[in-house]
Amino acid sequence: MLTGGGQVGNKVNVVCVASWNVDLVAHISEPLRRGETKLASAFERLPGGKGSNAAIAAARMGARVGLIARIGGDDFGQMGLDLWQQEKIDTTHVVRANNEANGTALILVYADGDNAIAVYPGAGAGLTPVHVESADDMVSNAKVVMASCEVPLAATQTAFQLARQAGVITLLNPAPAIPIPDEFWPLIDVITPNEEELLKLANVYTHDLDSAANQLLEKGVGAVVVTLGEKGCALYRPKLAVHLVAGHSMEVRDTIGAGDTFTGALAASLSMDFSWEQSLRLANAAAALSTQAHGAVSAMPQREELESWLETIMSA
Ligand code: RIB
Repeated sequence: MLTGGGQVGNKVNVVCVASWNVDLVAHISEPLRRGETKLASAFERLPGGKGSNAAIAAARMGARVGLIARIGGDDFGQMGLDLWQQEKIDTTHVVRANNEANGTALILVYADGDNAIAVYPGAGAGLTPVHVESADDMVSNAKVVMASCEVPLAATQTAFQLARQAGVITLLNPAPAIPIPDEFWPLIDVITPNEEELLKLANVYTHDLDSAANQLLEKGVGAVVVTLGEKGCALYRPKLAVHLVAGHSMEVRDTIGAGDTFTGALAASLSMDFSWEQSLRLANAAAALSTQAHGAVSAMPQREELESWLETIMSA
């Protein structure tokens, strides 16, 4: 049982420098070959964006979440505002680019639940350090600031610099895995790559997770949490042995947003001062439950649901 935490008044405790996409999802039996056309068996238009997904996961865990984002002036932009209002997410620092299209993700989901995604960031590509600086007050008074690599790195770097000056925890989901400059690494307190992202970021060409994670620690990252799907996750910190936290074997509907859910749940629990063990158990469980319905957001659990599921499986 995980205890403690919860929303504390109106003050934002988790800030997300966020991407917001509308996901256009087609279900097909198996990956397309180059030049091939296949009929899809289903199509959905769903909320997405790695940043918004993680923000919603954190809000459902009980954190008070605020966004820094740039969204389109079109209907897709409005969908984001409506969604965040429902999820009680603070949008004071969301700006709308009236003449620009919102971000869109084209997603293919295969019969085994795996997927492939192409993201067009749209208005989100215009998020700047100046915009982030205008949210300094919200960042400096938070407990955790998180971002993914779907937003411009310069904006995230500014947010992490402001956070660092104020002693706020910084959390990066390095998805998609893009080159990260040397001066950026020491600004990251916690990073949450999956196995492929970790190996790519560390330029390791064998499946040697230990040496890849240690390379990121040597670059100045405070903690590396590698997500391992149903095997759970592995926590690497300087001078400490790797700590494994077991995951959950589930029948998967689709894995869209599972990594974002993990990051958001982790941000929420770190903001509530949970221990690493508690935080990682909660993040593993939230990510596992998020695979139980189609789309990134629909199966993301509320905290009560998550706790009662954990109690059930622990007493079984
Ligand atoms: O991580 C899943 C997300 O990646 C999707 O929601 C899509 O929008 C892309 O950002």
